[in-house]
Amino acid sequence: MIEAGGNMKTLSLYLMLLLPLLVASTFDKEASIGVNIGTDLSDMPSPTQVVALLKAQQIRHVRLFDADRAMLLALANTGIHVTVSVPNDQLLGIGQSNATAANWVSRNILSHVPATKITAIAIGSEVLTSLPNAAPILVSAMQFIHSALVAANLASQIKVSTPHSSSIILDSFPPSQAFFNRSWDPVVIPLLNFLQSTESYLMLNVYPYYDFMQSNGAIPLDYALFRPLPPNKEAVDSNTLLHYTNVFDAVVDAAYFAMSYLNFTNIPITVTESGWPSKGDSEATLDNANTYNSNLIKHVLNNTGTPKHPGIAVSTYIYELYNEDLRPGSISEKNWGLFYPSGAPVYILHLTGSGTVLANDTTNQTYCVARENADKKMVQAALDWACGPGKVDCSPLLQGNPCYEPDTVFSHASYAFDAYYHKMGMADGTCNFNGVATVTTSDPSHGSCIFPGSGGKNGSITNGTTRAPSTNSTLSGCHSQYTRENQAFLSSLIAGFIIWTAAFL
Ligand SMILES: *[C@@H]1O[C@H](CO)[C@@H](O)[C@H](O)[C@H]1NC(C)=O
Ligand SMILES: *[C@@H]1O[C@H](CO)[C@@H](O)[C@H](O)[C@H]1NC(C)=O
Ligand SMILES: *[C@@H]1O[C@H](CO)[C@@H](O)[C@H](O)[C@H]1NC(C)=O
Ligand SMILES: *[C@@H]1O[C@H](CO)[C@@H](O)[C@H](O)[C@H]1NC(C)=O
Ligand SMILES: *[C@@H]1O[C@H](CO)[C@@H](O)[C@H](O)[C@H]1NC(C)=O
Ligand SMILES: *[C@@H]1O[C@H](CO)[C@@H](O)[C@H](O)[C@H]1NC(C)=O
Ligand SMILES: *[C@@H]1O[C@H](CO)[C@@H](O)[C@H](O)[C@H]1NC(C)=O
Ligand SMILES: *[C@@H]1O[C@H](CO)[C@@H](O)[C@H](O)[C@H]1NC(C)=O
Ligand SMILES: *[C@@H]1O[C@H](CO)[C@@H](O)[C@H](O)[C@H]1NC(C)=O
Repeated sequence: MIEAGGNMKTLSLYLMLLLPLLVASTFDKEASIGVNIGTDLSDMPSPTQVVALLKAQQIRHVRLFDADRAMLLALANTGIHVTVSVPNDQLLGIGQSNATAANWVSRNILSHVPATKITAIAIGSEVLTSLPNAAPILVSAMQFIHSALVAANLASQIKVSTPHSSSIILDSFPPSQAFFNRSWDPVVIPLLNFLQSTESYLMLNVYPYYDFMQSNGAIPLDYALFRPLPPNKEAVDSNTLLHYTNVFDAVVDAAYFAMSYLNFTNIPITVTESGWPSKGDSEATLDNANTYNSNLIKHVLNNTGTPKHPGIAVSTYIYELYNEDLRPGSISEKNWGLFYPSGAPVYILHLTGSGTVLANDTTNQTYCVARENADKKMVQAALDWACGPGKVDCSPLLQGNPCYEPDTVFSHASYAFDAYYHKMGMADGTCNFNGVATVTTSDPSHGSCIFPGSGGKNGSITNGTTRAPSTNSTLSGCHSQYTRENQAFLSSLIAGFIIWTAAFL
C-alpha cells in the first residue's frame, strides 16, 4: 500500500557507462538554478517584495517575461542575474525595424545596466509554435537587438536567444534520432548560425509533466520525476548505448542531437522553463511537484550534465516563482508556483545538502494529511496499514485521547499518515499511501492534538511578505499550453518510447 521510499543514490549510475564524449570549450562548467517570474496574479507582490523573497531564498538567477521597469529597478544592485524578454506582442515591430530594436534596447536595457545585472535577452516565447506568423522575422529581431548591444559595447555580457518549445524537436526518443521539425529549417538553421557566431545558447522549455500526462502510461511516472528506475526499466538509446534515467535528460539530449544533425555541435543549452504543477490533475500533487523540483535542482546543481554531455552545465529556470491564479486554463495551469503571493512556500523542497538556493528547505514544517477528495475506503485501508504494518503509534487516536476528536476516518488517517511521514524522515514517496495522502505546509494540529513535526507550534509557515496592489507588469508567462501540434509530437514521442523500451526489456 505504501509506495517505496524514493532512494536517491542512482542519478549518476550511468556516468560509469559513458562513451568518450566531445566537450566544446564554449560550454559553461557551472550550472545555475533560476526562477521564472510570471505576473498573472490577482495579488502580485510589489517588485520590492519579490526581490525580498528572492534574497531570502538566495535565488541568484531570474527570468522576466517582459522588461518591466519597476522590476528591473528593484533588481538593481542585488547582483541577481536577470534574463529579460521581448514579449511576443512586440516582436513584429522589432523584427521589422532596426531602429525599433535599437530603441527597445535603449529604453529597456541601457537605462538599467550596469546597476541591474542583465545577462540575457529572450526574444519572444515559443515563437515557432505559438506565433508562427512571426517566425520569418525572428532571426532579424535577434540580429537587430544584438547589433544594438554591439553598438553599446554590451554584446559580450548580454546574450541574445529565443526560448523554444521542445515540440519543435521530432522523434525525441531515442534522443540520438531526434531532429528539428524540417518545416522550420529556414528559421532554425540561420538561428543556430546566429547562436554559434555570437557564442549564445539554445533556450529550451522542458516539461516532463506534459510528456507524462499525454503518454497514457507509456512514460513511467518515476522516469518523469527523476526517481530511480529498476535497471530493466532504464531506457537505453540503442544507437549510442547511453542510459537514460529521466525524461529531462532525454529531452535535452534530443536537442543536442537535433543540433548536431544540422552540424552544430558547440551550442550549449539553457532550460528556460521546467517545473511541475502542485494541484489540479491526478499527478499534479504537492508530493510530485516537490519531488520533481527537488530532484531537478539537485540534478542541475550537481553539474551532472546529460548522458551525451556529462558534466556540461544545463542551467535551468524553474517554472515558476509564484502560483498564478489569473492564468487561463485548467486548475493545474494556475499551480506551477513554488510560493504563494504571501511569500509562504507552497511546499518545502527536499534539498538538504545541495547548496544554498531556496534556503528554506531545511525547515521541517511539512505535514502529511489525507486528501480531501480521496476515496473513503482507500483512506480507511491506508489508515489500517499505517497503524498496523506501518508501525505508527496510533494510541492518540483512541477514545479519550487527544486526537480522537473529530472521530472521522479522514482526521484519524491524517494523524497516522503524518506520524508515518515523520517517522520516515519525510523522505520522498513516504507521503503517498496509494495517492490518498498529500503534503501540506499548514500545521493540522488542533486543540491538544499535536501532529508529529509540529513541535506544538501553532499556525503554518510565517507569513513572509504581505500582499500589495499589483503593479503594471505587462505580460506574463507564455509557457507551452498543449496544442494539437504538440499532441502530434507527443504521439510520435510515445510511439517511439514504446518501441524503444520494448526493444530493451
Ligand atoms: C552528483 O555527482 C556526483 C559525481 O559527479 C555523483 O557521485 C552523485 O551521485 C551526484 N548526485 C546527484 C544527486 O546527482
Ligand atoms: C542596425 O543598426 C546598427 C546600429 O544600431 C548598425 O550597426 C547595423 O548595421 C544595423 N543593421 C542593419 C541590418 O541595418
Ligand atoms: C512541423 O511543423 C509544421 C509547421 O508548424 C506543422 O504543420 C507540422 O505538423 C509539424 N510536424 C510535426 C510532425 O509535428
Ligand atoms: C553536415 O556535414 C556533413 C559532413 O560534412 C555533410 O555531409 C552534411 O551535408 C552536413 N549537413 C548539413 C545539414 O549541413
Ligand atoms: C529537521 O529534522 C531532522 C530530522 O528529523 C533534524 O535532525 C533537524 O534538526 C530538523 N531541522 C530543523 C530546522 O528543525
Ligand atoms: C493555538 O492557537 C490557539 C488560538 O490561536 C490557542 O488557543 C491554542 O492554545 C494554541 N495551541 C498551541 C499548542 O499553541
Ligand atoms: C497572514 O497574514 C494575513 C493577512 O495579513 C493574516 O490575516 C493572517 O492571520 C496571517 N497568518 C499568520 C499565520 O500569521
Ligand atoms: C524562509 O522564508 C521566509 C519567508 O517565507 C524568510 O523570511 C526567511 O528568512 C527564510 N529563511 C531562510 C533560512 O532563508
Ligand atoms: C499603470 O497603468 C495605468 C493604466 O494603463 C496607468 O494609468 C498608470 O500610470 C500605470 N502605473 C504605473 C506605475 O506604471
